[in-house]
Amino acid sequence: MAKRNIVITGGAGFIGSHVVRLFVNKYPEYNIINLDKLTYAGNLANLKDIENKPNYKFVRMDICDFEAFHQLMQDEKIDGIIHLAAESHVDRSIKDPFTFARTNVMGTLALLQAAKLYWESLPEGYEGKRFYHISTDEVYGALAMNHPEGIEPPLKTVASSEGHKAYGDNFFYEDTKYTPHSPYSASKASSDHFVRAYHDTYGMPTIVTNCSNNYGPYQFPEKLIPLFINNIRNGKPLPVYGKGENVRDWLYVEDHARAIDMIFHEGKVAETYNIGGFNEWKNIDLIKVMIKTVDRILGNPEGHSLELITYVTDRLGHDARYAIDSTKLQKELGWEPSLQFEEGIEKTVRWYLDNQEWLDNITSGDYEKYYDEMYKDR
Ligand code: NAD
Ligand code: DAU
Repeated sequence: MAKRNIVITGGAGFIGSHVVRLFVNKYPEYNIINLDKLTYAGNLANLKDIENKPNYKFVRMDICDFEAFHQLMQDEKIDGIIHLAAESHVDRSIKDPFTFARTNVMGTLALLQAAKLYWESLPEGYEGKRFYHISTDEVYGALAMNHPEGIEPPLKTVASSEGHKAYGDNFFYEDTKYTPHSPYSASKASSDHFVRAYHDTYGMPTIVTNCSNNYGPYQFPEKLIPLFINNIRNGKPLPVYGKGENVRDWLYVEDHARAIDMIFHEGKVAETYNIGGFNEWKNIDLIKVMIKTVDRILGNPEGHSLELITYVTDRLGHDARYAIDSTKLQKELGWEPSLQFEEGIEKTVRWYLDNQEWLDNITSGDYEKYYDEMYKDR
């Protein structure tokens, strides 16, 4: 395996930490640089197990700092960028869209321009280089729930839950028109366009992937699954937006990280790949599974925590349904998820229950104040 110098941005966050761990452990001959600003969502405790490995280095940097990143590219002779750093929470984007435009759009542009200047200055130019941008299915907008009771899905994978249903006969494909609705998804859509523009205009070897909702260890507990597991454990209300009927398509985070590894190495330049496991869930059904699982593990009687369900004002512009078709990735590169949803959710619940200290460190102090403010009118 050739030596490579790779920057992974956002490596202290949820998905980024799984990607960093995978690359550091799997490729000892690579230099892996985790570049992260350490916003509220970045946490180096996510990487305790690999922080002393000789092929790993952490650099605290804002992706919007073009000069600093350009210097890093030169100093470290970077030949690959896997870009995950972003503001990632839809609710925050509704309160504070500017931060999302700054980081997700201008930050991505700063990385692209710095990479362009450095790579174009080399005798070999773009040969052997790669700029891989991690995006989301939310850029495609929302799918109609034209089968609200669920239908037999056209496709299944090992990730599909038992008795898996699709809530529409339509999916997000790689050529689905971009129709973002939230400031978060609008900023991600914009960054995707810039990445593709750098390929089309300058010939930069770029790849974009759009993934469905991830779940698993180390997710910041503002997102549905870790927030609700923590609240069930602590007997706190579970704020279900609207009627709880919105549908999300869930993929275990390590399966996303494996797809990123495969696509970084084998994906075709200028291509887009959708990543997802054909695993649609209505929020309320998923919440009931979490309640059942936590209650069972904690030894509570079945149904004990159902009373915590609290219907609250809906998220503004709440997208009805996401469902990814990942056939292209499965057929062209042979990727498939490894974990069935029921196993994944059990593993995830156990991880959060076993890592209460990790959760407590995050949910104390300033974050708690922020959270109170965000939900004060709900
Ligand atoms: P996260 O919020 O857990 O982590 C984001 C990381 O980026 C944090 O470590 C944070 O400190 C860092 N960061 C934020 N602003 C930065 C800046 N200006 N400079 C440097 N670092 C900065 O996010 P996540 O859920 O792990 O998502 C990672 C990426 O994957 C994002 O680009 C997101 O859009 C995309 N994505 C997420 C999901 C999901 O379900 N979580 C699904 C599909 C795609
Ligand atoms: O689809 C991929 C996207 O998934 C990523 O691009 C985003 O970064 C990631 O945050 C996630 O976005 P969602 O908005 O789907 O995730 P979230 O966990 O915030 O919410 C999941 C669903 O649960 C959504 O329909 C809103 C609902 N929800 C969420 C929270 C936090 C609630 O009902 N109550 C809550 O308290």
